[in-house]
Amino acid sequence: MQRIIKARLFLKINGFVLITGLLLSGCAGRPIGNNNTADYRNGMVVSANPFASKVGLDILKKGGNAVDAAVAVQFALAVVYPNAGNIGGGGFMVYRSATGVTNTLDFREKAGAAASRDMYLDAAGAPIVDKSLYGQLAAGVPGSVAGMVAAHAKYGKLPWATLLEPAILLARNGFPLSTQQAGELNNLREKLLQLNPDGTALLKDGTWAATELLKQEELATTLELIRDQGRAGFYEGRVADQIIQEMKRGGGILTKTDLQQYQAVWREAITGAYKGYRIITMPPPSSGGIALIQLLKSVEPYPLRRWGFQQDSTVQLMVEAERRVYADRATHLGDPDFYDVPAKALMEDQYTKDRMKNFDWSKATPSSVVKAGKVNAKEHEETTHFSIVDKAGNAVSVTTTLNGSYGAVVAVKGAGFLLNNEMDDFSVKPGAANMYGLVGGEANSIAPGKRMLSSMTPTILEKDGKLFMVVGTPGGSTIITSVFQTILNVIEFDHNMQQAVSAKRFHHQWLPDVIYTETGAIDSLTRVKLEVKGYIIAPRGPMGRVDAILKTKQGGYQGAADPRGDDQWLGW
Ligand code: GLY
Repeated sequence: MQRIIKARLFLKINGFVLITGLLLSGCAGRPIGNNNTADYRNGMVVSANPFASKVGLDILKKGGNAVDAAVAVQFALAVVYPNAGNIGGGGFMVYRSATGVTNTLDFREKAGAAASRDMYLDAAGAPIVDKSLYGQLAAGVPGSVAGMVAAHAKYGKLPWATLLEPAILLARNGFPLSTQQAGELNNLREKLLQLNPDGTALLKDGTWAATELLKQEELATTLELIRDQGRAGFYEGRVADQIIQEMKRGGGILTKTDLQQYQAVWREAITGAYKGYRIITMPPPSSGGIALIQLLKSVEPYPLRRWGFQQDSTVQLMVEAERRVYADRATHLGDPDFYDVPAKALMEDQYTKDRMKNFDWSKATPSSVVKAGKVNAKEHEETTHFSIVDKAGNAVSVTTTLNGSYGAVVAVKGAGFLLNNEMDDFSVKPGAANMYGLVGGEANSIAPGKRMLSSMTPTILEKDGKLFMVVGTPGGSTIITSVFQTILNVIEFDHNMQQAVSAKRFHHQWLPDVIYTETGAIDSLTRVKLEVKGYIIAPRGPMGRVDAILKTKQGGYQGAADPRGDDQWLGW
């Protein structure tokens, strides 16, 4: 009943037929309470935005498979969730077919050919504040359109144009902003004005209000070119010219050759085991997959279930594992096309056991003695994740990003899409503390054509050879620990999918040597027990927006949308 009331409210606010359909079919799932156990047989879509989830569900209902739905959702998010949904950014896809075939697609952005190691440093060798964060120079070569073309070519079933059509309509006709979205655009107003002097659809006279329609005519035209010409509609011709003009306007370095040469790459999935579950996840240039497997292996020998959810021993063990894994991440992970990542060695059973040997239950291990490595943990948190399963049981887990919220905050003039600021995910100054007080790694230094290290962790789990979970989240450096906790919440603490997603989170990333906690993540007794041992615990705002799907014992799909945002699950 509670779920229906929420759906009605949404209908009243938006007044859209789109939502009426959801109400009548009774399959809309806002993250209400912790006890969603609804079980859908034919498919499930969970994304950061209700309109994008509806687009994905419609594609599934039309007979599209999970990859078709993922392509349509990616383009829809570029319209209805411009903070992170994108065609000007990049991301990663993890795929598992109904028969158990796995694959991953890397459509991460790349540095342009004119990029150089010290491009964001001043004459004295110090990082120039904001240079890698805002404006045209902050952008890497976008990968999302090439990624969607590659995914569709390999696995898609429905015509390409069918997958673009919903996004085009949403851009052309507009969609009603949520309260959160209106507020974010209003907060960004000064920055948008400064970086887009000729205007953008995201700017208006006065302030945005919730339910107001955001129309993006230029973006609609760009999406039509992509619909009609595929990758050439973005990496060549009119849109490529517009990107180059934008680079000239703001001192960017991307060239036509950079655009033409961009390729998404199929990479073998990283796999590992945890107590009988098989983890299928993203290899480098994301650090997420290796780090997730390392974390799970580090805690596997211990009785977490007996200790209990978020009890002192559980938190201490997880924090000590996180400290060590993030130290490794700093030193050893980068773009595998440029740096020899020791993936196998890092995930060996003996290695993770040895790493955990030197921790002491009686006191915190100071990060200073764990490893004097190099880390770049300053990823921004405005990424987005979606999880999809189709009727046949094919599953797709996609995390995609512009990096910061609204990326470089530059909309390509005439083309209506935002550029990423993914260059900031490189170590701007390897070997020295960055502007956030962290130390950058050589493995992740800037080089022409190189992909910047990511934390994105789109993941799929199997149990007994069958699909078990599809999971992922935004959250910068907290992505890995949020996915880690969500998995443990289900496997160790018997949460249903929504409980696991809604549960409060904590995070440690080696440096700074602090356990960050959401309000309510750790009770006062646990806090005291940890503080006595020397742990520093600091509160912070919400971590991540996990969108996940669980295969139920009954054989259906249970969706879970993160209550930290506007996220929504839709099943049928
Ligand atoms: N830009 C966030 C990440 O790739 O991890």
